[in-house]
Amino acid sequence: MKKIEGFRCIECEAECGPTEAKYTCPRCEGNLQVVYDYLRLRKRLTRKSLSADPDKSLWRYLELLPLAGRGGLPPVSVGWTPLYRTRKLGSELGLKNLYVKDDGRNPSASFKDRASAVVAARAAQTGEKTVAGASTGNAAASLACMMAGNPTKPIIFVPKTAPPAKLAQLLVYGAHVFSVGGTYDEAFDLCRKACDEFGWYNRNTGYNPFTREGKKTCAFEICEQMNWRVPDLVFVSVGDGNILSGLWKGFTDFYALGLIHELPKLVAVQAAGSNAVALALKNGGAIRPVSGKTLADSISVSLPRDGTAALRALRESKGYAVTVTDQEILAAIPALAQGANVFAEPAGAAAYAGLVRSASAGRVRENDTVVIIVTGNGLKDVSSAMKAVGRPHKVGTDMASVRRLAMRQRLV
Ligand SMILES: Cc1ncc(COP(=O)(O)O)c(C=O)c1O
Ligand SMILES: [Zn+2]
Repeated sequence: MKKIEGFRCIECEAECGPTEAKYTCPRCEGNLQVVYDYLRLRKRLTRKSLSADPDKSLWRYLELLPLAGRGGLPPVSVGWTPLYRTRKLGSELGLKNLYVKDDGRNPSASFKDRASAVVAARAAQTGEKTVAGASTGNAAASLACMMAGNPTKPIIFVPKTAPPAKLAQLLVYGAHVFSVGGTYDEAFDLCRKACDEFGWYNRNTGYNPFTREGKKTCAFEICEQMNWRVPDLVFVSVGDGNILSGLWKGFTDFYALGLIHELPKLVAVQAAGSNAVALALKNGGAIRPVSGKTLADSISVSLPRDGTAALRALRESKGYAVTVTDQEILAAIPALAQGANVFAEPAGAAAYAGLVRSASAGRVRENDTVVIIVTGNGLKDVSSAMKAVGRPHKVGTDMASVRRLAMRQRLV
């Protein structure tokens, strides 16, 4: 693991060597940022070397990941998800350059596969036997997917409110599922205590410094897929804030390597009831817990576990936060599906709802290059999607009823 120079604490900025910390800052328990030897990497990673690499997965960035070679990489293909230029959706908002990054196309159908793939490989390479993690659902489903073929299956703590599709994924992939009779925040703390007591390796978002490392690969892909043009704005939904801070780590890593020469503004989209990051940004203070209530289960978080890093990403990128109601999130599901052909789960569609809000408040200019990240696939939570759309038309088994319905619907 020599390529990691060490860690820097997000809270107190103390630095420590690569073997001096496992999860959080030895001084203040803040989350850690991984620091690389950028001078050395500058010579190894160039635009040319990247474009010559035939690997169409996140492992094309192995040089910039906390892993020693290819041993223990999960056998499924993670990352290099499509980035669509969507003229129809863009024109509805008066935007000329709107792009949708569809991370629901990952193996377990969410962005979280990026983090779980890196943590699972790291666990294999460092000889960790049992991996555990708490999750609103997707991080767990992705860890279960990445480790499905392992002799020791991961142990997962999920709140009892996790949608059935995510629970099904966990059980199908053979994980040990602990359905916690409480919230995600309670599941998170319980998982941490269990890892301390039993010596399990903890994948918890933000607490494990390598989740952010996996997530940063999405920013790398955006730069490459846009032919090295850096977008003006990137919209992403925020729960714990680890995807947001991961994206910022990705853009700043590429900037430090001289691969890009500008940085985007990041926009955090939060649900109105789960808006701890947006509130802290507005008040200029620390993150305080909120109710965490929203139908977008993946971003239903009371106390964001990577909140400080998310706030820093927003401030450093000169970005901002938007909050959207559950109604706006629901309306965004069919709008995104019919405008850009991408079916998103509520937390994925929230990014688009945030863009709609920002555009109507005049915060986005016609010529801005905008990327929205769809972080999870719509099939993850069909019952929420059904709340956003009508019921199908009932028809009998005879042509006469088909004719009547077709005429009523003005289809003929
Ligand atoms: C689909 C989806 N979108 C957004 C998020 C929010 O990511 P973070 O908790 O890192 O802010 C999650 C996290 O579970 C997610 O699963
Ligand atoms: Zn610290």
